[in-house]
Amino acid sequence: MMKPVRGWTEPVSDFNDKEVLKLLLCGSLFLTGPVLMASDEAAEILAIEADSEYGEYLAGECSTCHNPNASDDSTVPKIHGASRESIVDNLLAYKNGERDNTTMKGVAEKFSKEEIAALAVYLASIQPDKT
Ligand code: HEC
Repeated sequence: MMKPVRGWTEPVSDFNDKEVLKLLLCGSLFLTGPVLMASDEAAEILAIEADSEYGEYLAGECSTCHNPNASDDSTVPKIHGASRESIVDNLLAYKNGERDNTTMKGVAEKFSKEEIAALAVYLASIQPDKT
């Protein structure tokens, strides 16, 4: 004669509800934590009242590679006239390794939040001239 499978009819609902709740809580913290941290830093930099002239001074070294007058097929992307958000996001991405480029990591790493803010204000204010 066959025995019934052990445990088949044991009540399990109590235990399961608590476990599901814990899993959901851990999962959501795990997923949102790093995302919030990254955008927090960008928001913090964008809120800084930065000095455009200081940005112009710092951007002197960028123009050796990022030529504001380069043609559209240049291999180095244009940054003069880009939005503040895009400049801040990209510099942070190179800094923390999210965007992998040795040259730009070296450039971005040495800048403080204030310096990134100043660069972004200055570069976003420039209209690249395509003549
Ligand atoms: C030695 C050359 C060099 C110098 C100097 C340099 N860059 Fe770059 N930069 C590059 C290259 C090459 C890329 C493209 C890298 C890639 O493929 O991700 C780039 C990419 C970028 C990007 C991303 C642009 C986009 O649209 O994806 C930003 C923003 C940027 N640089 C800002 C700067 C700033 C600000 C400075 C000056 C403080 C600077 N760079 C100095 C070579 C340089």
